Amino acid sequence: GDPPLFRGKRVLVTAGPTRERLDPVRYFSNYSSGKMGYAIAEAAARFGASVTLVSGPTALPSPDGVETVAVESAEEMYEAVLSRFAETDIVIKAAAVADYRPKYVAASKIKKQPGGYVVEMERTVDILKALGERKTGQILVGFAAETDNLEQYALKKLEEKRLDMVVANNVTEEGAGFAGDTNIVTIFRRDGVVRPLPLMTKREAAEEILKEIHAYIEAIR
Ligand code: PMT
Repeated sequence: GDPPLFRGKRVLVTAGPTRERLDPVRYFSNYSSGKMGYAIAEAAARFGASVTLVSGPTALPSPDGVETVAVESAEEMYEAVLSRFAETDIVIKAAAVADYRPKYVAASKIKKQPGGYVVEMERTVDILKALGERKTGQILVGFAAETDNLEQYALKKLEEKRLDMVVANNVTEEGAGFAGDTNIVTIFRRDGVVRPLPLMTKREAAEEILKEIHAYIEAIR
């Protein structure tokens, strides 16, 4: 059986992409399938945690024994996460949240016209950063999806968002990142521990990430 490492702990996981509406039939999004976050939610439940999964639109079934909250946009994800933050011990943000959304959402379908079309975008709220500013003892784990300078950007996120741990994946590497069943991650802990992991399934990576969170909690208490 699985070790009950997280018995009595309330874990909130975010997964999947967000969708940012342009008009009633169009949106901006990304290639996140939700597989990484769902694997973490499932593993946390196997490890004895009480798990809430806040998920953007995915094709995956809600995992057994996990409370799943479906959201669409970054704004909805922000509200779902923030409203549960006070009763959460550990937040793991595997979702690929849009950084920008259309500044204006058209009430009816935008009709095509001759020539180009320019969409003005505005920043979405940075959920993890907001959590970092509000945290009162929660463990905050972020992901970093990078295409270059993995370590530099991961450590920057650790600092700027006041995280306890960053799970970095180079999304250009074969077998890592979006959509597939495997990932290659490096874990950066606030206490300086760095752990590069080899190619493994997202299920295995999820277990390693949770074991590392457990080890970190033991190390800092
Ligand atoms: O879903 P899969 O297909 O299995 O793919 C997995 C994955 C590649 C999506 C996952 O492993 C991953 O890297 N997730 C984070 C993707 C991402 O948005 O990274 P980022 O470097 O842009 O964001 C850094 C962190 O800030 C993330 O934890 C993100 O959830 C968070 N964030 C980002 C923007 C925002 N507005 N609010 C946030 O909280």
